[in-house]
Amino acid sequence: MANTPTPIGGKYENKDIVSLDQFSSKDINILFKKVGLMKRIANKAKKSEILKGNIVALIFYEPSTRTFSSFSAAIKRLGGETIDLRDLERVSSVAKGESLKDTVRTLEAYCDALVIRHPEKGTAELTSEYIEIPVINAGDGTGEHPTQALLDLYTINEQRGALGGLTGLMVGDMLNGRTVHSLIRGLSKFKNNTVYLLSPKELRLSVSDREDFQKRGIRLIEIFSENEIPRNAHFWYWTRVQKERFKNLNTYNRVKNRFILNPDLIDKYAGKKTIFMHPLPRVLEIAEEVDKDPRAMYFRHQLKNGMYVRMALLGLVLGRLK
Ligand code: NCD
Repeated sequence: MANTPTPIGGKYENKDIVSLDQFSSKDINILFKKVGLMKRIANKAKKSEILKGNIVALIFYEPSTRTFSSFSAAIKRLGGETIDLRDLERVSSVAKGESLKDTVRTLEAYCDALVIRHPEKGTAELTSEYIEIPVINAGDGTGEHPTQALLDLYTINEQRGALGGLTGLMVGDMLNGRTVHSLIRGLSKFKNNTVYLLSPKELRLSVSDREDFQKRGIRLIEIFSENEIPRNAHFWYWTRVQKERFKNLNTYNRVKNRFILNPDLIDKYAGKKTIFMHPLPRVLEIAEEVDKDPRAMYFRHQLKNGMYVRMALLGLVLGRLK
Protein backbone atom coordinates (compact mmCIF):
# COMPACT_ATOMS: atom_id res chain seq x y z
CA MET A 1 0.00 0.00 0.00
CA ALA A 2 1.38 3.38 -0.92
CA ASN A 3 1.80 6.05 1.76
CA THR A 4 -0.63 8.91 2.22
CA PRO A 5 0.52 11.74 -0.06
CA THR A 6 2.24 14.70 1.61
CA PRO A 7 -0.05 17.65 2.39
CA ILE A 8 0.74 20.84 0.48
CA GLY A 9 0.66 22.78 3.76
CA GLY A 10 1.08 26.15 2.08
CA LYS A 11 4.24 25.10 0.22
CA TYR A 12 3.96 23.80 -3.31
CA GLU A 13 7.61 23.67 -4.30
CA ASN A 14 8.79 20.14 -5.09
CA LYS A 15 5.51 18.55 -4.02
CA ASP A 16 3.98 15.62 -5.88
CA ILE A 17 0.37 16.32 -6.82
CA VAL A 18 -1.44 13.00 -6.67
CA SER A 19 -4.67 13.59 -4.74
CA LEU A 20 -7.04 16.35 -3.67
CA ASP A 21 -6.53 14.97 -0.16
CA GLN A 22 -3.24 16.88 -0.07
CA PHE A 23 -4.94 20.27 -0.31
CA SER A 24 -6.51 22.44 2.35
CA SER A 25 -8.94 25.21 1.42
CA LYS A 26 -6.05 27.61 2.02
CA ASP A 27 -3.79 25.73 -0.42
CA ILE A 28 -6.52 25.87 -3.05
CA ASN A 29 -6.84 29.62 -2.52
CA ILE A 30 -3.07 30.13 -2.81
CA LEU A 31 -3.19 28.42 -6.20
CA PHE A 32 -6.23 30.36 -7.40
CA LYS A 33 -4.56 33.67 -6.51
CA LYS A 34 -1.97 32.95 -9.21
CA VAL A 35 -4.51 32.29 -11.93
CA GLY A 36 -5.13 35.96 -12.77
CA LEU A 37 -1.47 36.41 -13.74
CA MET A 38 -1.57 33.20 -15.76
CA LYS A 39 -4.60 34.48 -17.69
CA ARG A 40 -2.78 37.68 -18.56
CA ILE A 41 0.28 35.77 -19.73
CA ALA A 42 -1.77 33.35 -21.83
CA ASN A 43 -3.93 36.05 -23.37
CA LYS A 44 -1.18 38.50 -24.22
CA ALA A 45 0.30 35.97 -26.65
CA LYS A 46 3.59 37.09 -25.23
CA LYS A 47 5.97 34.40 -24.09
CA SER A 48 6.61 34.32 -20.37
CA GLU A 49 9.93 33.17 -18.97
CA ILE A 50 8.53 31.68 -15.77
CA LEU A 51 9.38 28.12 -16.83
CA LYS A 52 12.30 29.04 -19.06
CA GLY A 53 14.91 26.30 -18.88
CA ASN A 54 12.45 23.74 -17.48
CA ILE A 55 11.60 20.50 -19.23
CA VAL A 56 8.51 18.57 -18.18
CA ALA A 57 7.78 14.98 -19.24
CA LEU A 58 4.21 14.24 -20.30
CA ILE A 59 3.84 10.49 -20.12
CA PHE A 60 0.39 9.21 -21.03
CA TYR A 61 -0.47 5.50 -20.98
CA GLU A 62 -4.15 6.28 -21.70
CA PRO A 63 -5.81 8.41 -24.38
CA SER A 64 -6.21 12.13 -23.69
CA THR A 65 -7.12 15.26 -25.60
CA ARG A 66 -7.62 18.09 -23.12
CA THR A 67 -5.41 17.08 -20.22
CA PHE A 68 -2.45 16.37 -22.46
CA SER A 69 -2.77 19.45 -24.64
CA SER A 70 -3.58 21.84 -21.80
CA PHE A 71 -0.53 20.68 -19.84
CA SER A 72 1.55 21.03 -22.98
CA ALA A 73 0.17 24.51 -23.71
CA ALA A 74 0.55 25.55 -20.05
CA ILE A 75 4.25 24.66 -20.05
CA LYS A 76 4.89 26.33 -23.41
CA ARG A 77 2.98 29.51 -22.50
CA LEU A 78 5.36 29.84 -19.56
CA GLY A 79 8.41 29.39 -21.76
CA GLY A 80 9.14 25.78 -20.75
CA GLU A 81 9.51 22.70 -22.90
CA THR A 82 8.08 19.19 -22.91
CA ILE A 83 9.08 15.63 -23.69
CA ASP A 84 5.94 13.92 -24.91
CA LEU A 85 5.47 10.19 -24.55
CA ARG A 86 2.13 8.79 -25.60
CA ASP A 87 1.14 5.44 -26.92
CA LEU A 88 4.08 4.02 -24.97
CA GLU A 89 3.22 0.38 -25.68
CA ARG A 90 4.03 1.11 -29.31
CA VAL A 91 6.75 3.77 -29.43
CA SER A 92 8.80 3.46 -26.24
CA SER A 93 10.87 0.72 -24.60
CA VAL A 94 7.66 -0.36 -22.85
CA ALA A 95 7.19 -2.31 -26.12
CA LYS A 96 10.40 -4.15 -25.25
CA GLY A 97 9.13 -5.02 -21.78
CA GLU A 98 10.58 -2.12 -19.79
CA SER A 99 8.92 -1.57 -16.40
CA LEU A 100 7.20 1.65 -15.32
CA LYS A 101 9.90 2.11 -12.70
CA ASP A 102 12.72 2.03 -15.25
CA THR A 103 10.80 4.24 -17.68
CA VAL A 104 10.20 7.01 -15.14
CA ARG A 105 13.74 6.80 -13.74
CA THR A 106 14.96 7.40 -17.28
CA LEU A 107 12.77 10.46 -17.67
CA GLU A 108 13.95 11.78 -14.33
CA ALA A 109 17.42 12.04 -15.80
CA TYR A 110 16.16 14.48 -18.44
CA CYS A 111 13.28 16.40 -16.85
CA ASP A 112 12.35 18.65 -13.95
CA ALA A 113 8.83 17.26 -13.41
CA LEU A 114 6.74 14.42 -14.72
CA VAL A 115 3.03 14.41 -15.55
CA ILE A 116 1.60 10.90 -15.76
CA ARG A 117 -1.68 9.31 -16.82
CA HIS A 118 -2.10 5.58 -16.33
CA PRO A 119 -5.00 3.08 -16.38
CA GLU A 120 -4.20 1.71 -12.94
CA LYS A 121 -5.35 3.38 -9.74
CA GLY A 122 -2.43 4.35 -7.50
CA THR A 123 0.16 4.62 -10.28
CA ALA A 124 0.91 8.32 -9.83
CA GLU A 125 1.61 7.80 -6.17
CA LEU A 126 3.75 4.77 -6.91
CA THR A 127 5.69 6.79 -9.48
CA SER A 128 6.30 9.49 -6.90
CA GLU A 129 8.02 6.87 -4.75
CA TYR A 130 10.33 5.84 -7.61
CA ILE A 131 11.68 9.30 -8.44
CA GLU A 132 12.64 12.56 -6.76
CA ILE A 133 11.32 15.12 -9.24
CA PRO A 134 7.70 16.28 -8.73
CA VAL A 135 5.07 13.92 -10.15
CA ILE A 136 1.67 15.23 -11.20
CA ASN A 137 -1.26 12.84 -11.52
CA ALA A 138 -3.08 13.39 -14.82
CA GLY A 139 -5.53 10.56 -14.06
CA ASP A 140 -4.86 7.16 -12.46
CA GLY A 141 -7.48 4.68 -13.59
CA THR A 142 -10.64 5.02 -11.51
CA GLY A 143 -8.66 6.80 -8.77
CA GLU A 144 -8.26 10.55 -9.06
CA HIS A 145 -7.72 13.41 -11.49
CA PRO A 146 -6.60 16.25 -9.23
CA THR A 147 -5.86 18.90 -11.85
CA GLN A 148 -9.32 18.41 -13.36
CA ALA A 149 -10.89 18.91 -9.93
CA LEU A 150 -8.84 22.07 -9.39
CA LEU A 151 -10.05 23.56 -12.65
CA ASP A 152 -13.60 22.50 -11.82
CA LEU A 153 -13.37 24.18 -8.42
CA TYR A 154 -11.89 27.26 -10.04
CA THR A 155 -14.81 27.40 -12.48
CA ILE A 156 -17.41 26.96 -9.73
CA ASN A 157 -15.79 29.69 -7.65
CA GLU A 158 -15.49 32.02 -10.65
CA GLN A 159 -19.12 31.54 -11.66
CA ARG A 160 -20.89 31.11 -8.32
CA GLY A 161 -18.62 33.25 -6.15
CA ALA A 162 -17.99 30.65 -3.44
CA LEU A 163 -16.84 27.12 -2.79
CA GLY A 164 -18.85 26.59 0.39
CA GLY A 165 -22.58 26.58 1.08
CA LEU A 166 -23.26 24.97 -2.28
CA THR A 167 -25.79 22.47 -3.51
CA GLY A 168 -24.53 20.51 -6.48
CA LEU A 169 -25.64 17.65 -8.67
CA MET A 170 -23.22 15.07 -10.11
CA VAL A 171 -24.52 12.69 -12.72
CA GLY A 172 -23.26 9.60 -14.51
CA ASP A 173 -20.51 7.21 -13.50
CA MET A 174 -19.88 7.74 -9.78
CA LEU A 175 -18.21 4.34 -9.49
CA ASN A 176 -15.48 4.76 -12.09
CA GLY A 177 -15.28 8.51 -12.70
CA ARG A 178 -12.00 9.77 -11.30
CA THR A 179 -12.94 13.41 -11.88
CA VAL A 180 -15.91 12.95 -9.56
CA HIS A 181 -13.73 11.27 -6.93
CA SER A 182 -11.36 14.23 -6.89
CA LEU A 183 -14.08 16.89 -7.04
CA ILE A 184 -15.93 15.41 -4.06
CA ARG A 185 -12.66 15.43 -2.10
CA GLY A 186 -12.11 19.05 -3.14
CA LEU A 187 -15.61 20.22 -2.18
CA SER A 188 -15.17 18.51 1.19
CA LYS A 189 -12.54 21.08 2.10
CA PHE A 190 -15.18 23.82 2.24
CA LYS A 191 -18.09 24.18 4.64
CA ASN A 192 -21.74 23.28 4.14
CA ASN A 193 -21.64 21.58 0.77
CA THR A 194 -24.30 19.12 -0.33
CA VAL A 195 -23.96 17.04 -3.47
CA TYR A 196 -26.69 14.90 -4.99
CA LEU A 197 -25.25 11.92 -6.85
CA LEU A 198 -27.48 10.69 -9.66
CA SER A 199 -26.44 7.43 -11.29
CA PRO A 200 -27.79 4.07 -12.33
CA LYS A 201 -27.62 1.74 -9.31
CA GLU A 202 -24.80 -0.20 -11.01
CA LEU A 203 -22.66 2.97 -11.10
CA ARG A 204 -23.14 4.35 -7.61
CA LEU A 205 -20.03 5.12 -5.53
CA SER A 206 -18.29 2.07 -4.12
CA VAL A 207 -19.07 1.34 -0.48
CA SER A 208 -15.52 2.20 0.56
CA ASP A 209 -15.55 5.56 -1.28
CA ARG A 210 -18.97 6.38 0.12
CA GLU A 211 -17.86 5.74 3.67
CA ASP A 212 -14.59 7.52 3.14
CA PHE A 213 -16.23 10.64 1.65
CA GLN A 214 -19.04 10.81 4.22
CA LYS A 215 -16.46 11.16 6.99
CA ARG A 216 -15.21 14.39 5.47
CA GLY A 217 -18.20 16.51 6.36
CA ILE A 218 -19.63 16.84 2.87
CA ARG A 219 -23.28 15.82 2.59
CA LEU A 220 -23.77 13.26 -0.17
CA ILE A 221 -27.26 12.23 -1.23
CA GLU A 222 -27.56 9.35 -3.68
CA ILE A 223 -30.53 9.49 -6.02
CA PHE A 224 -31.47 7.13 -8.81
CA SER A 225 -34.15 8.99 -10.72
CA GLU A 226 -34.41 12.39 -12.38
CA ASN A 227 -37.50 13.17 -10.30
CA GLU A 228 -35.29 13.55 -7.27
CA ILE A 229 -33.05 16.27 -8.75
CA PRO A 230 -33.08 19.30 -6.43
CA ARG A 231 -34.38 22.48 -8.04
CA ASN A 232 -32.07 25.39 -8.57
CA ALA A 233 -28.73 23.75 -7.65
CA HIS A 234 -25.58 25.88 -7.90
CA PHE A 235 -23.95 23.50 -10.36
CA TRP A 236 -24.60 20.37 -12.38
CA TYR A 237 -21.61 18.17 -13.12
CA TRP A 238 -22.37 15.64 -15.82
CA THR A 239 -19.98 12.77 -16.63
CA ARG A 240 -19.44 10.10 -19.25
CA VAL A 241 -20.05 6.44 -18.40
CA GLN A 242 -16.46 5.13 -18.42
CA LYS A 243 -16.75 2.44 -21.10
CA GLU A 244 -13.09 1.41 -20.81
CA ARG A 245 -13.59 0.30 -17.19
CA PHE A 246 -16.29 -2.29 -17.99
CA LYS A 247 -15.34 -5.94 -18.18
CA ASN A 248 -18.67 -6.72 -19.77
CA LEU A 249 -19.90 -4.47 -22.58
CA ASN A 250 -23.49 -5.69 -22.14
CA THR A 251 -23.52 -4.01 -18.76
CA TYR A 252 -22.12 -0.84 -20.34
CA ASN A 253 -24.80 -0.85 -23.00
CA ARG A 254 -27.47 -1.27 -20.38
CA VAL A 255 -26.37 1.71 -18.28
CA LYS A 256 -24.96 4.20 -20.80
CA ASN A 257 -27.05 7.24 -21.62
CA ARG A 258 -29.49 6.59 -18.80
CA PHE A 259 -29.38 10.26 -17.82
CA ILE A 260 -29.19 12.87 -20.56
CA LEU A 261 -28.78 16.59 -19.98
CA ASN A 262 -31.27 18.21 -22.34
CA PRO A 263 -33.44 21.34 -22.47
CA ASP A 264 -36.40 19.52 -20.92
CA LEU A 265 -34.45 18.59 -17.83
CA ILE A 266 -33.05 22.13 -17.63
CA ASP A 267 -36.54 23.64 -17.80
CA LYS A 268 -37.76 21.36 -15.04
CA TYR A 269 -34.95 21.51 -12.53
CA ALA A 270 -32.24 24.10 -13.28
CA GLY A 271 -32.22 27.66 -12.00
CA LYS A 272 -31.31 30.83 -13.91
CA LYS A 273 -27.80 30.67 -12.48
CA THR A 274 -27.26 26.88 -12.35
CA ILE A 275 -24.07 26.15 -14.27
CA PHE A 276 -23.68 23.02 -16.41
CA MET A 277 -20.27 21.39 -16.24
CA HIS A 278 -18.64 18.31 -17.78
CA PRO A 279 -14.96 17.29 -17.76
CA LEU A 280 -15.32 16.12 -21.39
CA PRO A 281 -15.19 14.08 -23.55
CA ARG A 282 -18.96 14.11 -23.89
CA VAL A 283 -20.39 11.15 -25.73
CA LEU A 284 -24.19 11.40 -25.84
CA GLU A 285 -24.97 12.41 -22.28
CA ILE A 286 -25.38 16.12 -23.08
CA ALA A 287 -27.62 17.10 -25.99
CA GLU A 288 -25.70 19.40 -28.36
CA GLU A 289 -28.35 22.12 -28.18
CA VAL A 290 -27.31 22.70 -24.55
CA ASP A 291 -23.85 23.88 -25.72
CA LYS A 292 -25.16 27.32 -26.69
CA ASP A 293 -26.84 27.90 -23.33
CA PRO A 294 -24.82 30.59 -21.50
CA ARG A 295 -24.93 28.40 -18.38
CA ALA A 296 -22.94 25.65 -20.18
CA MET A 297 -19.36 25.87 -18.95
CA TYR A 298 -17.63 22.89 -20.56
CA PHE A 299 -16.48 24.56 -23.75
CA ARG A 300 -16.54 28.19 -22.74
CA HIS A 301 -14.87 28.15 -19.32
CA GLN A 302 -13.57 24.79 -18.18
CA LEU A 303 -11.20 24.34 -21.12
CA LYS A 304 -9.32 27.61 -20.70
CA ASN A 305 -9.45 27.46 -16.93
CA GLY A 306 -7.74 24.08 -17.17
CA MET A 307 -4.78 25.64 -18.89
CA TYR A 308 -4.56 28.61 -16.49
CA VAL A 309 -4.79 26.43 -13.38
CA ARG A 310 -2.16 24.02 -14.73
CA MET A 311 0.14 26.97 -15.50
CA ALA A 312 -0.16 28.20 -11.91
CA LEU A 313 0.32 24.72 -10.48
CA LEU A 314 3.45 24.03 -12.52
CA GLY A 315 4.93 27.41 -11.71
CA LEU A 316 4.45 26.76 -7.99
CA VAL A 317 5.59 23.12 -7.97
CA LEU A 318 8.71 23.99 -9.94
CA GLY A 319 9.45 26.81 -7.51
CA ARG A 320 9.30 29.49 -10.19
CA LEU A 321 6.20 31.26 -8.91
CA LYS A 322 6.28 32.59 -5.37
C1 NCD B 1 -11.73 12.81 -17.98
C2 NCD B 1 -10.75 11.72 -17.61
O1 NCD B 1 -9.84 11.39 -18.37
O2 NCD B 1 -10.91 11.24 -16.49
N1 NCD B 1 -11.31 13.56 -19.08
C3 NCD B 1 -10.49 14.63 -18.83
O3 NCD B 1 -9.36 14.51 -18.46
N2 NCD B 1 -11.03 15.85 -18.98
C4 NCD B 1 -13.13 12.36 -18.07
C5 NCD B 1 -13.48 11.20 -18.96
O4 NCD B 1 -12.64 10.62 -19.63
O5 NCD B 1 -14.67 10.88 -19.00
